[in-house]
Amino acid sequence: QTISLIGVPTDIGAGHRGASMGPEALRVANLALRLERRGLQVVDRGNLHGPINPWQPPTDGYRHLDEVVAWNMAVYTAFHQELSAGHLPIMLGGDHCLAIGSITAVARHCRETGKQLRVLWLDAHSDFNTAQATPSGNIHGMPVACLCGYGPQVLTELGGSAPATTPDVFRQIGIRSVDYGEKQLVREANVGIYDMRHIDEEGMKRVMEQALAGIDENTHLHVSFDVDFLDPSIAPGVGTTVRGGPTYREAQLCMEMIADTGHMASLDIVELNPAFDKRNQTAKLAVDLVESLFGKSTLIRR
Ligand code: ARG
Ligand code: MN
Ligand code: MN
Ligand code: MN
Repeated sequence: QTISLIGVPTDIGAGHRGASMGPEALRVANLALRLERRGLQVVDRGNLHGPINPWQPPTDGYRHLDEVVAWNMAVYTAFHQELSAGHLPIMLGGDHCLAIGSITAVARHCRETGKQLRVLWLDAHSDFNTAQATPSGNIHGMPVACLCGYGPQVLTELGGSAPATTPDVFRQIGIRSVDYGEKQLVREANVGIYDMRHIDEEGMKRVMEQALAGIDENTHLHVSFDVDFLDPSIAPGVGTTVRGGPTYREAQLCMEMIADTGHMASLDIVELNPAFDKRNQTAKLAVDLVESLFGKSTLIRR
């Protein structure tokens, strides 16, 4: 199977500038070569294009809504095209608002192919804000809500009709920052959240067993990897660090257990921000973890 890399160089939904440099940082960290060395076929589709970041304050609770829609339309089209061709698309973000486009495309592809969708959302944040609940207006804090039908119509109906998907497909892992109003929203929507306390108490192994339960041959597994999932001591190159995240070992185990399912069919790598990084270490770490996501292991297994 061919892996397609799609660069989406924008920070249009973020609260800090710099995630627009994410795609190039991942290329410089040799993402394609590392996957090829694993025996995988990789094509780099280059970068999508869209409006510049006008860096404006929010209007009616949203920052840069028109620009966010334009970028997400481009992602939606490109992602669906790759999925229809039978490829495994990897989005090189870009901030996390772009997961509205990628996951709307994946949800459509699942409807067309009769697959069950499961989304693993690896993140410090639950990204379930609305215009009323958001403390910032930054749309990278809203993609899960938008995908579940809560948000502006231009985003919830990106794929033609809302909602693109439902809260029950999501399993969020590593969560440790949920805003005041957002807490109520995720509770009402009943989003499957494995927060850091749950990981502390049960351990990453049991948490991943729970999050991956029920996945079978008929499942399309999408992984949305927000790099701020990781503890900032190992991954400083993100805009919104939250202390107390998974360690290197915990993150490796998480990725390895996803690989073991054999059902990951699409991936976002988002929120990498080289402006906050040192010597591209966070991009290198992300590539390291993505290798595990594609089955890298110390010994021959199975
Ligand atoms: N909850 C905060 C907000 O709504 C931060 C969101 C961070 N999201 C992210 N994808 N890094 O502004
Ligand atoms: Mn996020
Ligand atoms: Mn399709
Ligand atoms: Mn985050």
